[in-house]
Amino acid sequence: MRVLFLGEIVGRCGIGVIKNALRDYRKENGIDLVVANGEGATGGFGLGFQNALTLQHMGIDVLTLGEKAFYKIDMVEGIAKRDRILRPSNYPESVPGRGVRYISVGDRKVCIINSLGMCNFNSPHLNNPFLNADSIVDKAREETPFVFYMFHSSATAEKMAMGFMLDGKASAVVGTHCKVLTSDSRILPKGTAYVTDLGRCGASMSVGGFDPSFEIKRIRTQVLVRSKESWCMPQMQGIVCTFDDVSGMAVEVSPVRLDVDVVMPPPKDEGKD
Ligand SMILES: [Fe+2]
Repeated sequence: MRVLFLGEIVGRCGIGVIKNALRDYRKENGIDLVVANGEGATGGFGLGFQNALTLQHMGIDVLTLGEKAFYKIDMVEGIAKRDRILRPSNYPESVPGRGVRYISVGDRKVCIINSLGMCNFNSPHLNNPFLNADSIVDKAREETPFVFYMFHSSATAEKMAMGFMLDGKASAVVGTHCKVLTSDSRILPKGTAYVTDLGRCGASMSVGGFDPSFEIKRIRTQVLVRSKESWCMPQMQGIVCTFDDVSGMAVEVSPVRLDVDVVMPPPKDEGKD
């Protein structure tokens, strides 16, 4: 099985990257499944339900979220209607949506797990994902050898610790949130595909997909300057992995860093989601 894991889709530029690159990439590389983090797709802050449907229509099979899961209010109702949009599994049970889903990929079943890290988030509501990630994965492996653990975390050490904790259990442990593609994509000793961060789909010459001048101004002054989408050097970033059909473990992991032509809309459209 070939799986493309994509980094966070950031704003209209990120959606444009998916629109212009994904279908051809899927076809040319024999991709069976595409999983992407979508929590920045709507203006960089959250995922509106219509944007989620648009991205799935463009070829994203599964969208994961993170600490901005419900920044767009229509996702609170919308997430329950789509089994291929996942919020973090370590949110309270009563929160809409699910963080663990089983889906069909052709005649194979796969399990996707989404969880949120504990560092640098305002997250007293969360369960510690390290306490039960292994039991969630063990349970999933009773159903399928293909278990993909999407860890939305801002701390490198946290993501690496999760990778090693689930090595040999999960097919892949991949990190999101930092929006910088790390150069440590690899197969861990017991066969789990791993990368600390999948990077982003959107403007690569930017601060996390945003125009640097606005980010610098906010950091220098502490005045809440609104971020502005960047359109500079759009890229589709992530990793592509091949998994053994019997064991579910990784046999190949390669980074993806693809330049994509995306046309910036006229300035009058700025600020719309
Ligand atoms: Fe995030």
